[in-house]
Amino acid sequence: MLRSLLLGGLLIMETQKMISSRKAIREYSGQITDYQLHEILTAANASPVAMGQYDNYRLTVIQDPATLAKMSGVYDAPTVIVVSTNNAGAPEEVSAGAIVHNMELAAEDQGLGANYNMGGLSSIPADVIPSGFTPVFGLTVGQTTEKFAPREVPMDRIKTNFVK
Ligand SMILES: Cc1cc2nc3c(=O)[nH]c(=O)nc-3n(C[C@H](O)[C@H](O)[C@H](O)COP(=O)(O)O)c2cc1C
Repeated sequence: MLRSLLLGGLLIMETQKMISSRKAIREYSGQITDYQLHEILTAANASPVAMGQYDNYRLTVIQDPATLAKMSGVYDAPTVIVVSTNNAGAPEEVSAGAIVHNMELAAEDQGLGANYNMGGLSSIPADVIPSGFTPVFGLTVGQTTEKFAPREVPMDRIKTNFVK
């Protein structure tokens, strides 16, 4: 019992530390490994989506240099992971946000640099996206020389009102 409480406390500490250490990284120093990619995709598949309708989404992992060269607004990232939906609406866009956020945390938890991306969506060559699906959100990711440490997060960064 004591052991599981202790482990629980440590897990919460690690999760909070990770969340306050994450940051947008826009410079990449190399390609990620297949194992790192696997960890990121595992996090994507663990994401919540509206109504549990996972088949409304597709992930496209772009690492082909010729395809990446056709894209803009992706900071020369060696890997871009795109979330597409066949049913674009608010629930699907919010769900895509949850998927990308899970992937971003999984990337930076491994010491990789990552960032959310909407700016590059319109430049994705249409033939790499599954037929009937539209890109809604993306993640740029690669190796980084940046270090991650908890950042001071101002508590009024997002204004909050309390009803209690
Ligand atoms: C929905 C969404 C779209 C974003 N699109 C881009 C983008 O296209 N390009 C970019 O450089 N950053 C993009 N960002 C990253 C934000 O600019 C960044 O998260 C914000 O400035 C806060 O910085 P931080 O992530 O280091 O805390 C996006 C973030 C979100 C949540």
